[in-house]
Amino acid sequence: MTSTDPDLAGRHALVTGASSGLGADFARELARRGATLTLVARREDRLRSLQGELAGAETGHRPVDVLVNNAGFGLYGPFNTLDWARERAMLELDMIVPVHLTKLFLPGMLERRAGWILNIASIGAYQPSPLYASYSAAKSFVLNFTEALSYELRGSGVTATALSPGIVATEFLQVSGQRATRYQRLAMMDSPAVARIGVEAMLKGRPSLVPGRLNAASVWSNRLLPRRLSAALAHRLMT
Ligand SMILES: NC(=O)c1ccc[n+]([C@@H]2O[C@H](COP(=O)([O-])OP(=O)(O)OC[C@H]3O[C@@H](n4cnc5c(N)ncnc54)[C@H](OP(=O)(O)O)[C@@H]3O)[C@@H](O)[C@H]2O)c1
Repeated sequence: MTSTDPDLAGRHALVTGASSGLGADFARELARRGATLTLVARREDRLRSLQGELAGAETGHRPVDVLVNNAGFGLYGPFNTLDWARERAMLELDMIVPVHLTKLFLPGMLERRAGWILNIASIGAYQPSPLYASYSAAKSFVLNFTEALSYELRGSGVTATALSPGIVATEFLQVSGQRATRYQRLAMMDSPAVARIGVEAMLKGRPSLVPGRLNAASVWSNRLLPRRLSAALAHRLMT
């Protein structure tokens, strides 16, 4: 924790997708900074074991000061082969749920003139990503929504931050149905490190952050490429 970060003691945080990967590490990072927590996911046994590990995890009604919209998954493969029911569930979880939770908790934050919203996008949000076509498009939605909201919220005491990780060592690839490529193994970041970077960016009120130098350089250089070439490059790195 740096001395310039606000103390989260007495603050209450809601983290979605806290049963594994980044969500569990966001919960650990927020607890370490003194926040009490409400953790959301489907696998209750995992949440109970994390609750045992973190003194601050609790149930009960408290205003939400920190909202971490982290729950999400991807589906890997040619668009034409993906099952529609799963894809629709993915689009709902990745896009509708974060917007809905923001809609529910933002009014209270604005009334109190204090609050932090952290939405998890992806490096895939920055370019057309073949074989993750609808997932990366959903993450572009999250990125654009969050950066626009961040601007709307200026001066309100509430901030919104989009975190766009590259590949992180979690259950993501297993769930999406992809085997890690050589590039992904090379570029893979640790989940606790990404969670720490994300919480720091959120507390600073940054509109957007891509964690890791390699990822940041890749996003920056992508801006210079024609989009067709950018799609071809993403395809190359995903196979
Ligand atoms: N890992 C990466 O390489 C990477 C890169 C960029 C962005 N991201 C994004 O980071 C976020 C976290 O993913 P992760 O990498 O930590 O993957 P993960 O280990 O698979 O965790 C995903 C979490 O989402 C929860 N979840 C899935 N479906 C849910 C539902 N219907 N309702 C509530 N919770 C649900 C899962 O819990 P249950 O299964 O118990 O419900 C789990 O806790 C996602 O938004 C992902 O798109 C990940």
